[in-house]
Amino acid sequence: MVMQSSLDRRIQSLFPLALASILVLGTMQLILDNLKSNGSYVFQIYSEPKGNRNAFFVLPEDRIEEGCNLFEGEWKWDNVSYPLYTEDSCPYLVKQTTCLRNGRPDSLYQNWRWQPNSCQLPHFDPLKLLDILRNKRLMFIGDSVQRAQFESMVCLVQSAIPEGEKSFHRIPPTKIFKAEEYNASIEYYWAPFIVESNSDHATNHTVLRRLVNLDAIAKHGKSWEGVDVLVFESYVWWMFKPQINATSGTPGIVQEYNVTTAYRLALETWANWLESNINPLVQRVFFMTMSPTHLWSWEWKPGSNGNCFNETHPIQEASYLGTGSSLTIMEIVRDILQKLNINVTVLNITQLSEYRKDAHTSVYGERKGKLLTKEQRSDPNNFADCIHWCLPGVPDTWNEILYAYLLRSHKNRL
Ligand SMILES: *[C@@H]1O[C@H](CO)[C@@H](O)[C@H](O)[C@H]1NC(C)=O
Ligand SMILES: *[C@@H]1O[C@H](CO)[C@@H](O)[C@H](O)[C@H]1NC(C)=O
Ligand SMILES: *[C@@H]1O[C@H](CO)[C@@H](O)[C@H](O)[C@H]1NC(C)=O
Ligand SMILES: *[C@@H]1O[C@H](CO)[C@@H](O)[C@H](O)[C@H]1NC(C)=O
Ligand SMILES: *[C@@H]1O[C@H](CO)[C@@H](O)[C@H](O)[C@H]1NC(C)=O
Ligand SMILES: *[C@@H]1O[C@H](CO)[C@@H](O)[C@H](O)[C@H]1NC(C)=O
Ligand SMILES: *[C@@H]1O[C@H](CO)[C@@H](O)[C@H](O)[C@H]1NC(C)=O
Ligand SMILES: *[C@@H]1O[C@H](CO)[C@@H](O)[C@H](O)[C@H]1NC(C)=O
Ligand SMILES: *[C@@H]1O[C@H](CO)[C@@H](O)[C@H](O)[C@H]1NC(C)=O
Repeated sequence: MVMQSSLDRRIQSLFPLALASILVLGTMQLILDNLKSNGSYVFQIYSEPKGNRNAFFVLPEDRIEEGCNLFEGEWKWDNVSYPLYTEDSCPYLVKQTTCLRNGRPDSLYQNWRWQPNSCQLPHFDPLKLLDILRNKRLMFIGDSVQRAQFESMVCLVQSAIPEGEKSFHRIPPTKIFKAEEYNASIEYYWAPFIVESNSDHATNHTVLRRLVNLDAIAKHGKSWEGVDVLVFESYVWWMFKPQINATSGTPGIVQEYNVTTAYRLALETWANWLESNINPLVQRVFFMTMSPTHLWSWEWKPGSNGNCFNETHPIQEASYLGTGSSLTIMEIVRDILQKLNINVTVLNITQLSEYRKDAHTSVYGERKGKLLTKEQRSDPNNFADCIHWCLPGVPDTWNEILYAYLLRSHKNRL
């Protein structure tokens, strides 16, 4: 049991102001992306998918064993196989994540491979993933951290698809990447609280005056209906203050809720939605646990007084856990998922990401849609972003794990 007082400390320690400005930054990115697309969406007509040209068989060794815990392990230096793509090879990366191009002096963070203790992660093969997703939709739902996972997944597969057979559309609050020949799509849906809130609009919302509708999800749910693989995530937007304004039950009656209470109610709403909308025979649901933040360097380097800035190596201490991950929120997730009567696969990426203090965008990202100025960069205590991740980077590993699960349950065609 985590004591209430330690929970409060954890929540408060998330440094509200830094968090707010960074969240605004994430939001701005969505706006800018939308502007960049300048309304000229290319809608391509599908040709019939070309038969089984790329059909593949999952070999027994491709399937992770039932008993293997992919989330326990360590980061191994591997500058031979990693990164799996580069900033230059992926045209879909947004400026917020391209740390090298933005001036980061070292690229060490790109060269780590996640090694589970008791088995091997299967080698990521974009063509296999595309075949798994043939005539299907994979959708990532959540905040800007989840958006990076979407972008990572697009980068992981896109190089395997020839020019002219792929497309990328931005239709707020969604982004859609399509592999035409496979009739497969990889999508992103902006919903920072999963349930409805006044932060759902892609361009007009507030971080400071957040208002969450804890029992409202139908508007979002419309866009999730029938999607073959759904990957949900929601954490950092909740962690701004110990309380949050929300409605539940009577619309229009706003109350302050403890964040933990609010989070539980929101996940219950989500769980009910899943139970009445998901067909477990044809749809697959994943839930990403929280992506940790590294706002306080004294947690891994006692006596220091910085943040993730200037960090170049993962934390070595086994099972290191900083205050960027709320164990109480973790308990709530576990509790809700245990009670669900459909299967949701938990991608428990918290611990493996906790080690990666070196992999955040730090001062090599954007703030309010613009790269940091030289002055801002020289003031990392106020300007480093220790929430978002550089790409290529840690979200690639989350996707390798997601891939491992999809591969394991893929049925070979005869
Ligand atoms: C829209 O974007 C395309 C490609 O990015 C560009 O060629 C075109 O000039 C833009 N149009 C306008 C009106 O900005
Ligand atoms: C890869 O890492 C090894 C060990 O640190 C180093 O000796 C080697 O120069 C690196 N190779 C490249 C291509 O960076
Ligand atoms: C293409 O994919 C969509 C979305 O998954 C699906 O609804 C549709 O049936 C597919 N088209 C064909 C020709 O299979
Ligand atoms: C933005 O949202 C607020 C609150 O939801 C609303 O009052 C305002 O009219 C909106 N502004 C625009 C430009 O849509
Ligand atoms: C809730 O809203 C009220 C009125 O806008 C505001 O004074 C209060 O600070 C808000 N509470 C939180 C936890 O944001
Ligand atoms: C909210 O948290 C405070 C302080 O941790 C606690 O005293 C209070 O009982 C909680 N309220 C509810 C409704 O859970
Ligand atoms: C960043 O790291 C370099 C090399 O380790 C060191 O020389 C420099 O003082 C560090 N800067 C800060 C602000 O910690
Ligand atoms: C995720 O893993 C941690 C151990 O790293 C465990 O404490 C936690 O309960 C797990 N979360 C869920 C939702 O299973
Ligand atoms: C969930 O999956 C497990 C293992 O695949 C299976 O045994 C169980 O029946 C499933 N539960 C539900 C409610 O579908």
